[in-house]
Amino acid sequence: MPDNDKSSDDKKDYGIGVPMKQHGFFLKGSAHLGWGVKNRLAQIFNPKSGRTVMLAFDHGYIMGPTTGLERIDLVVPPLIKHIDCLMCTRGALRTCIDPTVHKPVVLRSSTGATVLRDLSNEVIGVTLAEACAMNAAAVTTQVCIGADYEKETLANISYLINEGAKYGMPVLGVTAVGKEMARDARYFSLACRVIAELGAHFVKTYYCEPGFDEVVASCPIPIVIAGGKKLPELDALKMAWKAIDQGACGVDMGRNIFAADDPIAMAQAVGAVVHKHESPEKAFDMYNTLKNKKSEK
Ligand code: 5RP
Repeated sequence: MPDNDKSSDDKKDYGIGVPMKQHGFFLKGSAHLGWGVKNRLAQIFNPKSGRTVMLAFDHGYIMGPTTGLERIDLVVPPLIKHIDCLMCTRGALRTCIDPTVHKPVVLRSSTGATVLRDLSNEVIGVTLAEACAMNAAAVTTQVCIGADYEKETLANISYLINEGAKYGMPVLGVTAVGKEMARDARYFSLACRVIAELGAHFVKTYYCEPGFDEVVASCPIPIVIAGGKKLPELDALKMAWKAIDQGACGVDMGRNIFAADDPIAMAQAVGAVVHKHESPEKAFDMYNTLKNKKSEK
């Protein structure tokens, strides 16, 4: 009924002279993405710090009951409030995580291999419709550059990127490293750059030295680091600090959190390093203080 509105014409405020704000976007290489992808990425990465602490607990899909993660239902729920994002399989999510949680989920979407066989021989096992039904904030698969099934893993991520584009679903590419590959800057620069150029939205790789800053510089999308094998807590914090210092946008850490002496304290200490760039020594003090407080109770 447009006519009925005439009487209030003189009360309207068009903000004449106030230019409409042009919104940029805080993540590297993401300015030209669509609203839905950006909204999902902004759930994963904290828009204030531009960083994220993702908790990876997808290990069971290839390794079975990993040390520290024998009982997902007991280990993961108490960590959730201390991290920014969950990275897991749909089975773990459905069975062990309360659907009332308000944390974004990056859904592991590949399958086809276990530690008993060639880990690069994977296919995509989760449809994008299923990922949307599970309210995923992103989907992920690994890319095995230089492995026997390199081509198949590149096809897997391309499939997720193409299908994800229909739903505004970001894709995390994981750089998997075969036993025979050198874990150096040259290899990770290659793998991260390939993943970015195929159209993934962020990439997970390993910290390496020297040259991690070059891996970051040559990758036009945000990088998060995996924790890798369990390290002493101070060493894991040092690794996270160096990665952030050289331009990583966060961690997607599993064993170094859930297999720590005190996983809850470690999640908070990692958070301080990632979001506040707290020194590893101070974060380790924080870890010990939190750990000791608990043991006093
Ligand atoms: C394997 C993965 C794992 O999630 C990854 O290894 C992270 O866990 P961790 O910090 O324990 O290494 O993506 O492809």
